[in-house]
Amino acid sequence: MKNKKSRPEDAADLRQKAEAVFFKQAARSSEDLVSLSSEETRRMFHELRVHQIELEMQNEELRLAQEALNVSHARYLDLYNFAPVGYITLSEQGLILKANLTAATLLGMDRSELVNQPLTGFILKEDQDIYYLHRKSLFESREPQECELRMVNKDGQLFWVHLTAVASQDDTGPICRIIMSNITERKRSEEENKTLQAQLTQARKMESVGRLAGGVAHDFNNMLTVILGHTQIAMDDIDPSEPLYHDLQEVLTCAQRSADLTKQLLTFARKQVIEPKILNLNQTIKQMIIMLQRLIGEDIKLIWKASENLWAIKMDPSQIDQILANLCLNARDAISNGGKIIIETGLKTFDPAYCAGHPGFVPGDFVLLAVSDDGCGMDKEICNNVFEPFFTTKETGKGTGIGLATVYGIVKQNNGFINVYSEPGQGTTFKIYLPRCTSVDEALKIDLSEEPVPRGNETILLVEDEPAILELTQKILQRLGYSVITAATPGEAT
Ligand SMILES: Nc1ncnc2c1ncn2[C@@H]1O[C@H](COP(=O)(O)OP(=O)(O)OP(=O)(O)O)[C@@H](O)[C@H]1O
Ligand SMILES: [Mg+2]
Repeated sequence: MKNKKSRPEDAADLRQKAEAVFFKQAARSSEDLVSLSSEETRRMFHELRVHQIELEMQNEELRLAQEALNVSHARYLDLYNFAPVGYITLSEQGLILKANLTAATLLGMDRSELVNQPLTGFILKEDQDIYYLHRKSLFESREPQECELRMVNKDGQLFWVHLTAVASQDDTGPICRIIMSNITERKRSEEENKTLQAQLTQARKMESVGRLAGGVAHDFNNMLTVILGHTQIAMDDIDPSEPLYHDLQEVLTCAQRSADLTKQLLTFARKQVIEPKILNLNQTIKQMIIMLQRLIGEDIKLIWKASENLWAIKMDPSQIDQILANLCLNARDAISNGGKIIIETGLKTFDPAYCAGHPGFVPGDFVLLAVSDDGCGMDKEICNNVFEPFFTTKETGKGTGIGLATVYGIVKQNNGFINVYSEPGQGTTFKIYLPRCTSVDEALKIDLSEEPVPRGNETILLVEDEPAILELTQKILQRLGYSVITAATPGEAT
């Protein structure tokens, strides 16, 4: 007997032999068949049995081969359908001929519905060019091509894909096989990294500009103190009716304005001397509302929405005034023909998970101060620069670009953070998050009211390394009745 590995030629051989025997026997008359010897009959039966067994064996082999084929086909279908990537076969015209289940799920349709749909129907309008070039180079070069683009599924959901395409041929003509991987998550984290990187660069830039501004402002402030002091002393010495008095008044006003500007720069550089107090933001804002309405004029409506049960914050109240005045003035300038400004407060808690997904946010409890307007809004470019000192879009003389830099400095000095949301023509919202103050002891502290300038005749040892300031302070103290001994360094003083 032949083994299981009998080949089709052997089977054909056997069949021919059996036919030969049969035709040989059939060629004889029926009498001949009867007259067959018992030996011949036995041999014939034997041959027939051998044929039958061979056929049964072949049948069995065919059945087993069919079963193996079915198993392998089912495995192929599983692998094809449930592959982690989408497989799509396209006609030369770009129509979908076949798609696996993953591709159909990504596109949000049944596989049968997809047949004969153009793939371009699922590609975002803005990315159609990428796909066009991708197909062009595929059919021109006949080399595999890759690209990344955005697609939109049947429900309008946008997702990013990486496509690898191979040109091929089947019995219908040229076709193209596409492997489609969903890369939305990767793109999202790339985007987040980019935003974080940009924020880091921005923070570093602000830090160095702050250091520079702080350094210059510090020296400038010293000089202004001297200018202001001497002017004041000179004015004390002359009669207000003299023309020189008027000139000195002008010097004083300008020096005062420069000092205000320097103070703002120092605020941005977080070097401003502050007196933080425990406050309820609502109360501080309430005291400001009438003044703010006057500041922005009657044409613009000021809406005040106070959130209830606000947490306490610890801050110098004059800094809240500075923030609101700057934001409201900017909002006023952004509104052309009447509009509204909304000042809102609120409570916000951010957990680390939220902050991980929202660059720029810090975990913790915060009191929110939001100022929105329905003015002209800003484009992305402006939004990215608004907090930089001396960045302004206003005409010369109308803005110095220091307002928002001051606000930024104040918020940072108080360990808060600020975000801006704006679109051209869609208005602007600034959201400031100030950390909640939980210290009870702090809440008990009371304000120190201003005391009158003391006078006396005691001797004072005055130490100051800046000669101009030393001289000025000496002069002022002497005018208040004190005897003054001066020294430029602690060593000199001892
Ligand atoms: N609410 C807003 N709507 C539209 N643009 C704004 C708004 N707030 C700020 N800006 C833009 O940001 C720029 C910078 O604002 P910032 O307050 O720092 O300076 P400024 O208002 O130009 O000058 P300054 O405040 O020193 O007088 C503005 O010139 C303006 O282009
Ligand atoms: Mg401003």
